[in-house]
Amino acid sequence: MKIARFSRIGFILAAAGSAVGLGNIWKFPYITGEYGGGAFVLIYLFTVLVIGFSIMIAEMLIGYMGRRDSVTSFEILAPHHKQLWKYAGFQALAGLFIMIYYSVVIGWIFNYIVTSLSTLPSTVAQAEQTFNTMLHADFWTQFEYHTVAFIGITYVLTKGIKGGIEKMNMILMPALMLILLGMFAYALTLDTFSQAFHFMFFPDWSKIDSNAFVVAVGHAFFTLSLGMGAMMTYSASLEKNSNIVQAAFWVVFLDTTIAIVAGLMLFTFLYQYGAGPAKGPGLVFISLPAAFYEMGIIGNIFAVLFFIALAFAGLTSAVSLVEPMVQYFIDRFSWSRLKASIMMGLFFYLIGIFAILSNIEGASEYLTWGNKSFFDWVDYVTAAIMLPIAGLIMAVFIGFVIEKSKVESIMKPQLGFAFEAWYFSLRYITPIAMFVVMLSLMGVLS
Ligand code: TRP
Repeated sequence: MKIARFSRIGFILAAAGSAVGLGNIWKFPYITGEYGGGAFVLIYLFTVLVIGFSIMIAEMLIGYMGRRDSVTSFEILAPHHKQLWKYAGFQALAGLFIMIYYSVVIGWIFNYIVTSLSTLPSTVAQAEQTFNTMLHADFWTQFEYHTVAFIGITYVLTKGIKGGIEKMNMILMPALMLILLGMFAYALTLDTFSQAFHFMFFPDWSKIDSNAFVVAVGHAFFTLSLGMGAMMTYSASLEKNSNIVQAAFWVVFLDTTIAIVAGLMLFTFLYQYGAGPAKGPGLVFISLPAAFYEMGIIGNIFAVLFFIALAFAGLTSAVSLVEPMVQYFIDRFSWSRLKASIMMGLFFYLIGIFAILSNIEGASEYLTWGNKSFFDWVDYVTAAIMLPIAGLIMAVFIGFVIEKSKVESIMKPQLGFAFEAWYFSLRYITPIAMFVVMLSLMGVLS
């Protein structure tokens, strides 16, 4: 089987493209707002460094050593019980599941690019109404843009690692960073920047409860694209003798920096032109457009650019959510890349239609169970259950199952004296943290 290999910079951009997504620009600012800013940011930074970074290295290592799709990699690497371990590779399924709603949200963003070209809502109330109308009453708009997202994502996947994924990331990632930096530079000139800075870096511990820690760990996983074979599958296309630690460092660094830059910028705008750090998922789709309106003409330009950047972030993550299963069908069933891409695309596209319907008035009552819509269920089951389980499994796999000498021979030269600390984190800190997160997110503890 011939495998196209990433270039060094191509790999880092593709892996960073996977990590930098809706999680950074949409989710991180609003959960930071919910948990009162600074203290939450500190906890998040701590978890990214201690848990996220270790698992990132572990997941990349599995892909790098296995060099195949996630299922086969586990099967090859497990020293015993191969038939059992191969099921760990089915964490790749979580990517397809996430895509069921991720593609719909990318569709919303497309819609916001188009509508921001002509009009912005003049008040928060109006912005809220616009968003809610789209979400609960406008099936066709959501359907059309979900279709556009499906076609674009599937097209890139059919082009493969080099000509599709690497190429896309080499263009969209620099563009995304440029747009964000440009808008960030503007935010720096506003009086309220210091207020935003204070909000994000000066801890107010009163808003922090045990839940904040759990949310921070869960988010660290999601934002770094861990726990579903994405980093693993990309790493299988790394050149031999690649430096995993260096790559992992860059991905974590870029992901964290972009989340913080986006947060500082958004909070500055919201302090200056809006209602302050908005809470909840409506931050980007409701509070922000209303703040852009207040900025005048530059707000119009910023709105369009911002949603373009958000779309780029979403698209580069989306391909990484589907690629692991595409690779699986190519490797194990000898499907052509074209067939595998289209089949996986159709899977999330068709089920995604039900995710849209589950928010539409009149249809939602058939697609809601226990006060969560199908849309919310998919998010919940993947983020709260599937990712932490996969994280736990990978930590145990590298920490206990694979022979230490084998891990050491590859990682010791790269990690040096930090090797033991990394290994310890995988063996003890990470599994315990993942277990606690899972239990509490499932509502057992809280
Ligand atoms: N990291 C992306 C974000 O922040 C989402 C994502 C892409 C992801 N690939 C993943 C999450 C793999 C978990 C696993 O939006």
